[in-house]
Amino acid sequence: MTPLIQLAGISKTLRGQGAPRIVLSGLDLTVHSGESVAILGRSGSGKSTLLSLIGLFDRPDGGRYVFAGQDISRLSERRAARLRSDSFGFVFQRFFLLKHLTAAQNVAMALVNGQGWLPRRMRRAKIMAALDQVGIAHLAKQKPPRLSGGEQQRVAIARALVRRPRVLLADEPTGALDTETGNLVVDALHATTNHGCALILVTHDHDHAERMGHVLRLSDGVLHEARQEVSR
Ligand SMILES: Nc1ncnc2c1ncn2[C@@H]1O[C@H](COP(=O)(O)OP(=O)(O)OP(=O)(O)O)[C@@H](O)[C@H]1O
Ligand SMILES: [Mg+2]
Repeated sequence: MTPLIQLAGISKTLRGQGAPRIVLSGLDLTVHSGESVAILGRSGSGKSTLLSLIGLFDRPDGGRYVFAGQDISRLSERRAARLRSDSFGFVFQRFFLLKHLTAAQNVAMALVNGQGWLPRRMRRAKIMAALDQVGIAHLAKQKPPRLSGGEQQRVAIARALVRRPRVLLADEPTGALDTETGNLVVDALHATTNHGCALILVTHDHDHAERMGHVLRLSDGVLHEARQEVSR
């Protein structure tokens, strides 16, 4: 089967105020549809940088990026933006929900741009399916201030899922949640792979990482196999 994501020899140097910093150097990664991958690594190791390259928010300095069999290393800015909105969903540590809108309306925001006109009933069905997928369809009419942190994060996941992305990129989605709530959110994320979505989860939590199909650690600019030999 053709991998969904193939990174080969990816390098990235970030230039800020100080000296340039080599963040990624010759990084390889292969992810298939329906796979889940956890990425661990100490703070500053480049995990968020890597996600922004995979999600086409940024470009590597070198290396090859093949997506669904197509070399997208040199895609134009316009096509990259198109591919990003068609194929990628994003979840972050902060939920970025609009407080005055209901859960359903927050999810609907993701359908506003680029999806073209959708009949009302179809929009509603898509939104409810996304909320249902993360187990909070019954909260569709609630506004964020009345939801728990874990529920708010699941609204954010539903918003990321409503356009049926092929890849879900989650950057420390449980960072603001307690362990138990975090587990629920990780379960909701992992369940997306049952629908063929690929999931890449950046986390500091080893237990959450171990729930993924593959566990990798980013250090010295490359990824290392990091599955612990404990059964869960
Ligand atoms: N715009 C920038 N210019 C220069 N250096 C940067 C820039 N953005 C990030 N960095 C540096 O690049 C390195 C990687 O950052 P990145 O945010 O990818 O790490 P991370 O693994 O996600 O860390 P954390 O676990 O704290 O989120 C860090 O040393 C960071 O300070
Ligand atoms: Mg980060």
